[in-house]
Amino acid sequence: MDVITAILGRVSCPKLVAPGPSAGEIDTILRCALRAPDHGLLRPWRFLVVEGEARQALGELFVEAERIRNPQASAEALDKLRRNPLRAPVVVVCVAATVPGHKVPVIEQVASTAAAVQNMQLAADALGYGAMWRTGPMAFDAHVKACLGFEAKDEIVAFLYLGRVDGERRRAEVPELEAYAHRWTGR
Ligand SMILES: Cc1cc2nc3c(=O)[nH]c(=O)nc-3n(C[C@H](O)[C@H](O)[C@H](O)COP(=O)(O)O)c2cc1C
Repeated sequence: MDVITAILGRVSCPKLVAPGPSAGEIDTILRCALRAPDHGLLRPWRFLVVEGEARQALGELFVEAERIRNPQASAEALDKLRRNPLRAPVVVVCVAATVPGHKVPVIEQVASTAAAVQNMQLAADALGYGAMWRTGPMAFDAHVKACLGFEAKDEIVAFLYLGRVDGERRRAEVPELEAYAHRWTGR
């Protein structure tokens, strides 16, 4: 499939099941991430692949973080967080390990990591898997970052869920171009 068809047809897939991508396929997906555009060749991207029982450990980390954030959190809320990483066989934590104060601003370092995430989504699609980019409060939580080996200055840009698509893949709807793009012809 050519790249334009692949991009126009890409959809997020919230329902993902096993089997997920193999170790070799995950490597391919990650290598595609490493071709993200990158101002200053800072290579700010870091990726943690979480699969198998490690997903349970990630869920427990989310629960621990939520208990710190909100000691009154309900059992239901904690249970939902605990189960979140189980929504796919593979979760890739995609992080911008930022360099504040560098001539390449942090926003560009985060933008590069976001481009890496999109490369991964397209690579997963091309390999016949589904992908879903998620964040939520846990992506911004200092305890989560610290326990995953990052600093508060670093940004979790995505929890990228990968797996086999459960059911029919949604058809992509491309928005009307006129609402978002115009020719600028000068002042
Ligand atoms: C930075 C970022 C964070 C996102 N976080 C979530 C999330 O936590 N939960 C969610 O349901 N969708 C989230 N989304 C949106 C989905 O990944 C997806 O893009 C959206 O549902 C639109 O579907 P489509 O990609 O098929 O157009 C996020 C997207 C981005 C770019």
